[in-house]
Amino acid sequence: MQSTAAADLESYWMPFTANRQFKAAPRLLVEAKGVYYTSADDRRILDGTAGMWCVNAGHGDRRIVEAVQHQVTELDYSPAFQMGHPKAFELANRLARLMPGDLDHVFFTNSGSESVETALKIAIAYHRVCGQAMCTRLIGRERGYHGVGLGGTSVGGMVNNRRLFGSLLAGVDHLPQTHDREHQAFSRGQPEWGVHLADELECIVGLHGAETISAVIVEPVAGSAGVLVPPKRYLERLRAICDKYSILLIFDEVITAFGRLGTASAAEYFGIQPDLITCAKGLTNAVVPMGAVVVRKPIYDAFMQGPNYAIELPHGYTYSGHPLACAAGLATLDVYRDDKLFQRAAGLASYWESAVHSLKGLPHVVDLRNLGLLAGIELESRLGKPSERGFEAFLKCFEKGALVRTTGDIIALSPPLIIEKAQIDQLFSIIADVLKVLD
Ligand SMILES: Cc1ncc(COP(=O)(O)O)c(C=O)c1O
Repeated sequence: MQSTAAADLESYWMPFTANRQFKAAPRLLVEAKGVYYTSADDRRILDGTAGMWCVNAGHGDRRIVEAVQHQVTELDYSPAFQMGHPKAFELANRLARLMPGDLDHVFFTNSGSESVETALKIAIAYHRVCGQAMCTRLIGRERGYHGVGLGGTSVGGMVNNRRLFGSLLAGVDHLPQTHDREHQAFSRGQPEWGVHLADELECIVGLHGAETISAVIVEPVAGSAGVLVPPKRYLERLRAICDKYSILLIFDEVITAFGRLGTASAAEYFGIQPDLITCAKGLTNAVVPMGAVVVRKPIYDAFMQGPNYAIELPHGYTYSGHPLACAAGLATLDVYRDDKLFQRAAGLASYWESAVHSLKGLPHVVDLRNLGLLAGIELESRLGKPSERGFEAFLKCFEKGALVRTTGDIIALSPPLIIEKAQIDQLFSIIADVLKVLD
């Protein structure tokens, strides 16, 4: 076992982490297989979060591991600009086929954040190449999370992620968030109340003028803010208003794509076609970092003008379509297909829903929400100490052998799609035990 002496931990400035607390009492993971991690103190930890919403096929799948091993010996890297390698095209074709309608062109990135920056830039540039240079404004939503780039932070709506970083991008506005405990608490699946919140987009259009708005970006189900499930007909209404004013609709599916709702995408689940989809995480089962932006054909086509030796979109990353990521992505999509994991998730959703709502009535629980294999368990905050109870719940779950995520006082769950019913029971029994002993 590696040393965890305080001095050994000091240099690493950990992301989105309480560094001082962690370094005083580290939680180190050293192995993973299936739905379990092994901690440095040799305990089995049930992975209630698929890593960070990303290891959808479970850990250490031999087929993905071997594909990456083979790739690294065959072609380790190929330049991403003005050169290509076959697997990048193959993966783009496979991904395009998974997405609904004419969402059929794929731009590769290395993360969800890069996918969001890419999608926002494509949206602004699209209007420009169509001769609508004034269409630059971006609309996000309160409590949205779109990664950590300046664009994503600007359209994002989680105040703690924004307040340190100054005025952010100009020309950004926000829809109201969609969760209201008074009207929606303990909803199973999509809440009945809240479709009217989409009409706020009409107000934003009225304020700024449709001709200035490039795109609206939303997570179909908000994940990082604590699993906020969209009200019934809300997303349909947003789509209709975007259509009315020729505003692009971007679904940020970094969490919801690849089976989380029992379908390849949330767009498919809700039966709504956005103009762009951002994804990452489950695309490669997190074995190699990768993200992608999938755009509708007319958007791609609009850029294909001018002399044919000219670069149509001056944007991209050294590691766009990296061979290892493409090998991991192709193997991952094979696993999803061969093991029917999206269908498996769909089949488990009602068992999952019952397990989530079995926590009703336990101490501190003020709301329970679910969709597909996602859940949010909202705990009452301690007076004057927001997030403290949630953080303690997270620590106690880890002590008892379950990895959960918390955002403030909300526990968020998103297990690997290979989870068994007995393991769902184990997860919720640990959480129930923790809630009973928590102050
Ligand atoms: C909806 C959404 N967008 C973007 C991101 C950022 O992805 P990454 O951390 O890979 O940059 C996340 C991460 O959780 C996310 O949930």
